[in-house]
Amino acid sequence: MIKNICCIGAGYVGGPTMAVIAQKCPHIKVTVVDLNEKRIAAWNDKDVNNIPIYEPGLSEVVAEARGRNLFFSTEVDKAIDEADMIFISVNTPTKTYGVGKGMAADLKYIELCARQIARVAKNDKIVVEKSTLPVRTASAIKDILEHTGNGVNFQILSNPEFLAEGTAIEDLFAPDRVLIGGDTTPEGQKAIQALVDIYANWVPKDRILTTNVWSSELSKLTANAFLAQRVSSINALSELCEKTGADVNEVARAIGMDSRIGSKFLKSSVGFGGSCFQKDILNLVYIAKSYGLNEVADYWEQVIIMNDHQKRRFAKNIIKTLYNTVSGKKIAFLGWAFKKDTNDTRESAAIYVADDLLSEQAAVAVYDPKVGEEQIQFDLNYLETRSESENQKGVQVMTNAYDACKNAHAIAVLTEWDEFKTQDWQKIYDNMLKPAFVFDGRNILNKEELEKIGFIYQGIGSR
Ligand code: NAD
Ligand code: UDX
Repeated sequence: MIKNICCIGAGYVGGPTMAVIAQKCPHIKVTVVDLNEKRIAAWNDKDVNNIPIYEPGLSEVVAEARGRNLFFSTEVDKAIDEADMIFISVNTPTKTYGVGKGMAADLKYIELCARQIARVAKNDKIVVEKSTLPVRTASAIKDILEHTGNGVNFQILSNPEFLAEGTAIEDLFAPDRVLIGGDTTPEGQKAIQALVDIYANWVPKDRILTTNVWSSELSKLTANAFLAQRVSSINALSELCEKTGADVNEVARAIGMDSRIGSKFLKSSVGFGGSCFQKDILNLVYIAKSYGLNEVADYWEQVIIMNDHQKRRFAKNIIKTLYNTVSGKKIAFLGWAFKKDTNDTRESAAIYVADDLLSEQAAVAVYDPKVGEEQIQFDLNYLETRSESENQKGVQVMTNAYDACKNAHAIAVLTEWDEFKTQDWQKIYDNMLKPAFVFDGRNILNKEELEKIGFIYQGIGSR
């Protein structure tokens, strides 16, 4: 029975996942380690509201388990040494250099973990891939682990994480399924069972699915590709709706009632963001290409092409509607995070829309309930479109919606935060320049109400 777990990587996946395992399994000691000292210090902050990740319900879970059987530390070697089971939950971003640049997953952090485990381990360990990895990565990890000469036996499992940010705790408490892939050998099956036993502390057995390693690795990329594909599909139709007078919300409802299609993930938007969808599809495209499957690669790449188009056309429409120039005009952004209820901004559509508007010399004012100035400037600087000082000059960050919208020519809703729906829209209108435009990139505001106040309102996918 597993008594001691180590998780390498205290990010958006490692942190919440391990907090929940610790909460549900008080008999297991869980240590989450990271090289990032600032991040670990934040996880250990006395005030549990200062933990580095904002997720509804997370701070309560951490408050319950931290110091009891949940620990955050920078002592990676020690935690590896003590553990019977090691989760690898480090980042696997798109490569920014060399072969596969812009497409393949960068596995350098994974390899570093494998080498560190190989170096430190003195007794048998189960190594669990929690990060999202290209299919067949387990064989590379195995290769590294088996060539250390320490005489240690390793079992490698794939246990991809399906949580979505903003609902991570809900998703971890009641997952649609837990997927565990392992070797078909008796030792492999024993390792699978050890991990099944952990989840079985709170997940019904019929929701714990076991497969071979390759199916598990590929299922994760496939799930994200299918989900993203639905968003790009409805977004593709949103543009046709705008031309024809159909309303994308009505179309989504009509098709979603077909039980074969289903109603979820059909919300048309300014484009999907987040650290996963784009990265994982690009990775899938790269893998398909590497096997010479060009048609398969092209098919999935279209999901990304459509998403880029959706972000770009949102910015273009703002410019066109504001009489073909936004130079010197103040555009207020409501929201910067890639979706509501998270402070994560990775690949957020807001970044790209802002970048396009800044290139047209707009003055952007941003308010997001959970994202601050430092992060917003970082996101824009990362694109390297213009100098840091130009980004600084072009973007103001406000602490509430009213200040962001004051004297603005237009408002763009980039994130679907609930609080945007309940602002005093009359007050916002009174303080704006006229005509006052609202571009609702999330279709969350009440069009009739806003038009009654005097706004010129444009949503996505309707006239
Ligand atoms: P993240 O960047 O938030 O966290 C990764 C952490 O790993 C960082 O804090 C980094 O400092 C640490 N790290 C990197 N190399 C290390 C090393 N050698 N030793 C110790 N620490 C190291 O990333 P994330 O969002 O948590 O994603 C992690 C993985 O999970 C990725 O493969 C991602 O695709 C996958 N995933 C993410 C989500 C999500 O919603 N974010 C959901 C499912 C799966
Ligand atoms: C996704 C997967 O859902 C999750 O299973 C996986 O583990 C990680 O990647 P995440 O990126 O956190 O999760 O959030 P998700 O809810 O999937 O949203 C991704 C993006 O798509 C967001 O920008 C969201 O606003 C957008 N989206 C989602 C839409 O535009 N319309 C929809 O109908 C759904």
